[in-house]
Amino acid sequence: MIIPFSICLFFILLIVVRFLFNIWWIPFRVKNVLRLQGLKGPAYKFIHGNTKEIIEMKKQAMSNPMDLSSHDIFPRIQPHFYTWMKLYGQNFLMWDGARPQIVVTEPELVKEILSNKEGAYGKMKLRGYLKKLLGDGIVMAEGEKWTKLRKLSNHAFHGESLKDMVPAMIASVEAMLETWRKYEGKEIDVCEKFRLLTSDVISRTAFGSSYMEGRKVFETMTKLCIIISRNAHKIQYFGIGKLVRSQNDIEADETEQLLHDSIMAIVKKREDEVKTGRADSFGTDFLGSLLKVHHDMDKKNRISVVDLIDECKTFYFAGQETTYSLLCWSILHLAIHTDWQERARKEVLQLFGQENPNSEGIARMKTVVMIIYETLRLYSPVVTITRQIYSNVRLGKYELPENIDLLIPPLALHRNPEIWGEDAHLFKPERFAEGLAKVGNNNSMAYLPFGYGPRACVGLNFAANEAKITLSMILQRYKFSLSPNYVHSPFQVLTAQPEKGVQVLLHSL
Ligand code: HEM
Repeated sequence: MIIPFSICLFFILLIVVRFLFNIWWIPFRVKNVLRLQGLKGPAYKFIHGNTKEIIEMKKQAMSNPMDLSSHDIFPRIQPHFYTWMKLYGQNFLMWDGARPQIVVTEPELVKEILSNKEGAYGKMKLRGYLKKLLGDGIVMAEGEKWTKLRKLSNHAFHGESLKDMVPAMIASVEAMLETWRKYEGKEIDVCEKFRLLTSDVISRTAFGSSYMEGRKVFETMTKLCIIISRNAHKIQYFGIGKLVRSQNDIEADETEQLLHDSIMAIVKKREDEVKTGRADSFGTDFLGSLLKVHHDMDKKNRISVVDLIDECKTFYFAGQETTYSLLCWSILHLAIHTDWQERARKEVLQLFGQENPNSEGIARMKTVVMIIYETLRLYSPVVTITRQIYSNVRLGKYELPENIDLLIPPLALHRNPEIWGEDAHLFKPERFAEGLAKVGNNNSMAYLPFGYGPRACVGLNFAANEAKITLSMILQRYKFSLSPNYVHSPFQVLTAQPEKGVQVLLHSL
């Protein structure tokens, strides 16, 4: 069938009008509406927004290693936020292509956004390759679906369930420490070891398998993370990506399929155990709970197979990547601040002697917790908490139109001298001596490594337990100091990580 020329022309015109509406009219309108209310920011550049400047600023910031005397990683990891906050104030408008984004660092406004329960601020719709990594799991879900998923994960990662995980965590750390023996009296890159450890811990505790079984999942996830970071500020040209496939698109699609298949293999194995009578239930771990709901007799309670896979993806990723970052930076601090290393060891030996950590002792740790908190303040693994305005809303003094992204960088609040004092960039775990409630001038928004409000981290206690157990078992066996080969180069691959590892000199006790 031949389509008449006039109809073709009509559709072409429609596409052009929509294109111009998106890349010209929306930025023009939003910029004016916000500017009138005093919300300024860098100028919108046609199609690209501020992405080219951001890429250039990041390249500049990363061009040299950092001085170890300061832990102020904000200007390095998010140089665009740092620069524009100084120019335009605590809250400002910037552009991801033609998409308006407001960076919010004023504590009262951050609180309003993160504690909102009326649904005006929802999760930011994932664009590009990040969707392939996280799918529509709990991190992205809203409404009833989120409530159902959150209930499941709350149960799996809290209270008694967490206590039951302690032996599995210890077994993973023991396996890791076996491989440390050959480094005694030598240099070791702890990050390499923590990569495997954190993968093994989430595999054993949530999915009932070892790192070796989950290996394909982690390998494909690492590959996807690299593709995502490589394309972080690349602009999607309004549907053109669907017509013309780039090398990155093809690679990302293939990797997503591999990830799907490798998770499916783990799921099928568990299902087969029940089908063949080798097991009488799906199990009590996180995967078992997911499968139980997936096969629920009542259709209303069920989750689909897509949701099941997305949930596995989310927890494999969230359970590993963030705690990896925390452990690497904690060891860096302990290697530099050997006085704190000694204090932490003293506490560990008082609580456990040479025995493995136990739940009661873990709950009583104080010094190690202070060190973990301070590490998370200076090197927050999650560097941006995102939301999207779902409907026109009043935020503080601003009237904001819908469909704008909101970006909250915890590091900006964690380094604020008005909250933390002029020495905010220094490692001082004593800030946390009175516990979390008393820190940062009693400002509940002073400290956001795990977010805040209904969407705060569900794995907080899991991560804390894993870090406490790992650090305790290392401190029981080894003294360590920073190797002269260490290069201080914090960078962001989704989370904030040491680009070139953390090398320490290891001495057995
Ligand atoms: C040091 C370790 C960790 C840090 C710093 C961290 C940080 C965060 C932050 C900032 C959020 C809030 C995001 C938002 O408000 O949009 C979050 C949410 C979440 N985290 Fe973590 N996390 C850590 C460990 C973990 C672990 C170990 C797990 C899983 C076992 C996990 C699972 C999740 C999930 C599922 C959510 C989404 C919750 C929801 O939307 O209801 N996290 N995390």
